[in-house]
Amino acid sequence: METVQVQLPSHTIAPYSVRVGAGQLGEIGPTLRTDLDARTCVIITDSNVAPLYLARTAASLEGVDIRVLAAQFAAGEAAKNLRTVGELYDNLLPRRLDRNAVIIALGGGVAGDLAGFIAATLLRGLPFVQAPTTLLAAVDASVGGKVGIDHAAGKNLIGAFHQPRLVITDLATFKTLPRREIACGLAECVKHAFIRDGALLSFIETRLDSLISCDPVTMEKLVAWNVQIKAEIVEMDPYEKNQRAWLNFGHTFGHALETVGQYHALQHGEAVALGMVAAARLSEKRLGLNSAITARLIALLDRIGLPTRLPGLDAGAIFNAMKTDKKNRDGALRLVLLADIARPEIISDVPAEQVFQAIESLNVTETATGH
Ligand SMILES: NC(=O)c1ccc[n+]([C@@H]2O[C@H](COP(=O)([O-])OP(=O)(O)OC[C@H]3O[C@@H](n4cnc5c(N)ncnc54)[C@H](O)[C@@H]3O)[C@@H](O)[C@H]2O)c1
Repeated sequence: METVQVQLPSHTIAPYSVRVGAGQLGEIGPTLRTDLDARTCVIITDSNVAPLYLARTAASLEGVDIRVLAAQFAAGEAAKNLRTVGELYDNLLPRRLDRNAVIIALGGGVAGDLAGFIAATLLRGLPFVQAPTTLLAAVDASVGGKVGIDHAAGKNLIGAFHQPRLVITDLATFKTLPRREIACGLAECVKHAFIRDGALLSFIETRLDSLISCDPVTMEKLVAWNVQIKAEIVEMDPYEKNQRAWLNFGHTFGHALETVGQYHALQHGEAVALGMVAAARLSEKRLGLNSAITARLIALLDRIGLPTRLPGLDAGAIFNAMKTDKKNRDGALRLVLLADIARPEIISDVPAEQVFQAIESLNVTETATGH
């Protein structure tokens, strides 16, 4: 097992551990009893994860006399909204929770964001534990305390900062992940590598087969490495005034692609992959990024099985959706671009037509790219 500590620069937020290892869900009861003195836990999970891992998680908690409540929602990004939050409040409030009840998010990033939002708001805030079961949630969404929901106007527009008290990643749960979800998680790892760490990039490139087959040793190293990168950035800037925005490389384009697809068409990681390609092309124009680096990004995403082009996209609609991004200031788009690997910059004066061209550059057919 690997453990990464997250220590935010605030005396009001407790430091927390991220534990990464196979079989961790079987230990969740004793861990929560010892570390948090938990007596009641509410497991919030989705309809795919519940049949796989809810009983195991509940058994571990009940094994140390923790009272367990559970609530489920329909799996998928389309449920990450105010309606589901309302249903969860309706489910939980009559069950007489007090402020010591611990909310556990069991599942992917959608469960983490939704359950975290419930934990941030119910009874003005409950302790919160992340138990990510997707690679994407393990390497990204479960760390850093951003919680929230989508709105028809845009992705993640409603939310809060609410740090978990503990993150428990059971790598054994990745065995049931569809291949597509492993690819989506790798998209965020590729993002971390490009914004921060060329050595991580080489690691992903050389160990890709072991990662895709979820080899436990390689996966443990990948997850702990990415959590470390995310933790370092969040520790520098917990409330995204500055460096934390680097983590949005590819995301302003990606969120717009998700919004235009009404949260059905593309998985989050797929939208981020396309967004990184657009951002890299724009970085060539705006910051002189070497085109060989864009080619390296596209080659890796292709090998992972992530989309790097989107024939028939509606560039106008995507451009409009980008205007609702939270990072924009005074109506100007703020984009994370790259001058080089591990040299991200936050740029807010990109001409609209260059942004438009970067979106349009994804609109190529297979024949046009020679693939
Ligand atoms: N809060 C943050 O900092 C942050 C960072 C990155 C992403 N996110 C959010 O995370 C979400 C994407 O997360 P995701 O990709 O994990 O999506 P997800 O939660 O929808 O999970 C993807 C799919 O995998 C299923 N699943 C989960 N674990 C499984 C398992 N072990 N075996 C089989 N199936 C399993 C889920 O039911 C779902 O169908 C987006 O909403 C995104 O905005 C948040």
